[in-house]
Amino acid sequence: MAHEVKGVIASAKGAPVSITTVVVPDPGPGEALVAIQACGVCHTDLHYREGGIGEDFPYLLGHEAAGIVEAVGPDVTGLSAGDFVILNWRAVCGQCRACLRGRPWYCFATHNATQKMTLTDGTPLSPALGIGAFAEKTLVAAGQCTKVNPAIKPEVAGLLGCGVMAGLGAALNTAGVSRGDSVAVIGCGGVGDAAILGARLAGARKIIAVDVDDRKLEWARQFGATDTVNSAADDPVEEIKKLTDGNGADVVIEAVGRPETYKQAFYGRDLAGTVVLVGVPTPQMQLELPLLDVFGRGGTLKSSWYGDCLPTRDFPMLVDLHLQGRLPLEKFVSETIALDAVEEAFAKMQRGEVLRSVVLL
Ligand SMILES: NC(=O)c1ccc[n+]([C@@H]2O[C@H](COP(=O)([O-])OP(=O)(O)OC[C@H]3O[C@@H](n4cnc5c(N)ncnc54)[C@H](O)[C@@H]3O)[C@@H](O)[C@H]2O)c1
Ligand SMILES: [Zn+2]
Ligand SMILES: [Zn+2]
Repeated sequence: MAHEVKGVIASAKGAPVSITTVVVPDPGPGEALVAIQACGVCHTDLHYREGGIGEDFPYLLGHEAAGIVEAVGPDVTGLSAGDFVILNWRAVCGQCRACLRGRPWYCFATHNATQKMTLTDGTPLSPALGIGAFAEKTLVAAGQCTKVNPAIKPEVAGLLGCGVMAGLGAALNTAGVSRGDSVAVIGCGGVGDAAILGARLAGARKIIAVDVDDRKLEWARQFGATDTVNSAADDPVEEIKKLTDGNGADVVIEAVGRPETYKQAFYGRDLAGTVVLVGVPTPQMQLELPLLDVFGRGGTLKSSWYGDCLPTRDFPMLVDLHLQGRLPLEKFVSETIALDAVEEAFAKMQRGEVLRSVVLL
């Protein structure tokens, strides 16, 4: 039996999103039907609406979500109706070269559900990141459901499904920040602040927040930044050096996704330190650096997709740390909103007024 539910659709490039009826089929083999409880509004949803990710309109938006499994397909094991889950966009396949080499966070054959949800006239919907969770119910691959302790609030748990995991993982998994390190984070939105939190959790001694907006720097301090630099007023490379005895930071995490901020990260880093790019550039952006500097400065240049996370390993662990009071994820939730306020939440995000607006269903 198919389910008719309300969902938020981006129907054409640049057009405002709207609420419409979505037809969600019952789960087939390998699939799960999930009743969504909360879903964060991420920058990537806005990228979809603007046509920055693809042209497969209409999109069913929303991908940073937690909810309750309502039904599973006939062959699904280890997941059943009533389970509280965080949805992930990395259900690793276990069979590709990356998986078989023990590096499943590089799996590109992820098992995500395909386009089975439709409008009432049968038009297929493209779910954002294979999830589509700005809807009362969604259909995903069973591997996209990660069971966690249900004691965590859904609006907090869902954030681990995307941006917060990307930032935490950039510091913890990709950069491997360790005790005593100096870390600079350029761009203190939800992703950058999560990187700051990750650096603090790992025992970084100095955490320098860099942004062009004083309000963001104020918030960054609440996540654990020890120093702040407004790069609209001061040269961030000079300031980072001043704060690190002239050396530069051991780790610089770029969470904006622009060539100029990447250059700041490259030159604000200590010789032999690590730069991690977690901000997502557009296809037009180009980076120009003297090759001699790349050679002469040594060190490591990395990028981080989804914080190099493994949902099955990382989500339950991070939920436990939160429940023990060691990971204040609730600070990312600027407001909870209804399904019909997503368009307004995009505008607030663009004006820099929120870290995360979270839809409660
Ligand atoms: N790698 C991943 O897996 C992944 C996952 C989710 C999001 N992202 C990306 O991470 C980036 C940040 O996402 P977000 O949700 O935190 O966005 P956001 O819009 O909330 O935050 C961006 C921050 O960068 C600041 N900023 C803008 N221009 C700047 C500049 N020139 N110098 C310094 N700071 C500047 C803004 O003031 C803002 O605080 C985006 O590019 C997003 O697409 C990556
Ligand atoms: Zn794989
Ligand atoms: Zn996202």
